[in-house]
Amino acid sequence: MSKVFRVPLPPTRGGATTAARAPQPTATPPRCGIVAGCLSPHPPHLIYAENPPQNEPRSTGGWETLRWAYERLRTRIREVHKPDVLIVHAPHWITMVGHHVNCVPNPRGISVEPIFPHMFRYRYDFRTDVELGEAIADEAAGLGLVTRTLRDPRVRVDYATIGALHLANPAWDMPVVSLSANNNPYFYSDASLEEMEVLGEATRRAVEATGRRAVLLASNSLSHLHWHEEPELPEDMEREHPYNNHQYRWDMKLLEAIRCGPTAPLRELIPEHIEATASETKAGSLTWMLAAMGWPKVGGDVLGYGTIIGTGNAVVEWLPEGSHHG
Ligand SMILES: [Fe+2]
Repeated sequence: MSKVFRVPLPPTRGGATTAARAPQPTATPPRCGIVAGCLSPHPPHLIYAENPPQNEPRSTGGWETLRWAYERLRTRIREVHKPDVLIVHAPHWITMVGHHVNCVPNPRGISVEPIFPHMFRYRYDFRTDVELGEAIADEAAGLGLVTRTLRDPRVRVDYATIGALHLANPAWDMPVVSLSANNNPYFYSDASLEEMEVLGEATRRAVEATGRRAVLLASNSLSHLHWHEEPELPEDMEREHPYNNHQYRWDMKLLEAIRCGPTAPLRELIPEHIEATASETKAGSLTWMLAAMGWPKVGGDVLGYGTIIGTGNAVVEWLPEGSHHG
């Protein structure tokens, strides 16, 4: 069924289709290109707990170990990676047909989390790298994905996009490209993450063609079963723990594989983890990011793990092959 959102490609020279080609890993880290990829979950609780000026609700804190992990990630992004652009794929900008790229030059507005409006009412105002956004849309269309650019500035930016971007760069002083999640994988149980491989390849090509230094953000939680009753104080950490040991063990299984590397075995493990834990990676953000990086033969650096209303969340950084922190 997932094929309904993929158009057939005309044959290219030699008879092979462009889409059939597997993403090629980059041999040496380029001065431009994808300089890091981050698993950067977006639960509104983290921003609520930080009390930034953009968010209306006030808190007394909470979920500190995850927030400290994000602090370390921010330092790396700002001081080491120094990207021209942050590219985010987020599961709550859901598009029914195809993949959309936000090409509004200056999205502004208020983003509200519909389930937790008492935690997240966030005023955003950021710049889009429109040239790169258009290049990603063109490359994705060229690879056979149904793709559209979003041009309507009235569309409200979802909290998964805002959440990952704020937590990675609360100063909002880096241009952004944001990609929607085609909700096909949520609808069709036999859908694969194959389209995310293609979207990743399109992203990599566009970054390289435009000469950008890009950091990718995959805005996904891990295990995704959660509580349905909230304590009187939402940030009451006495109440915070894994949903159950099964969920926790599966998150650890995935994270141990991530830490060990290489990433190629994750192609099998991510769908197994989704099946076992209802993981939010079903929306494809993690697969998109690793595919864009050419499934590097290295481990990821797990900066932190913690639960939020029982769901598993990890902040993880991958560097391209041949690259390392000095
Ligand atoms: Fe989410």
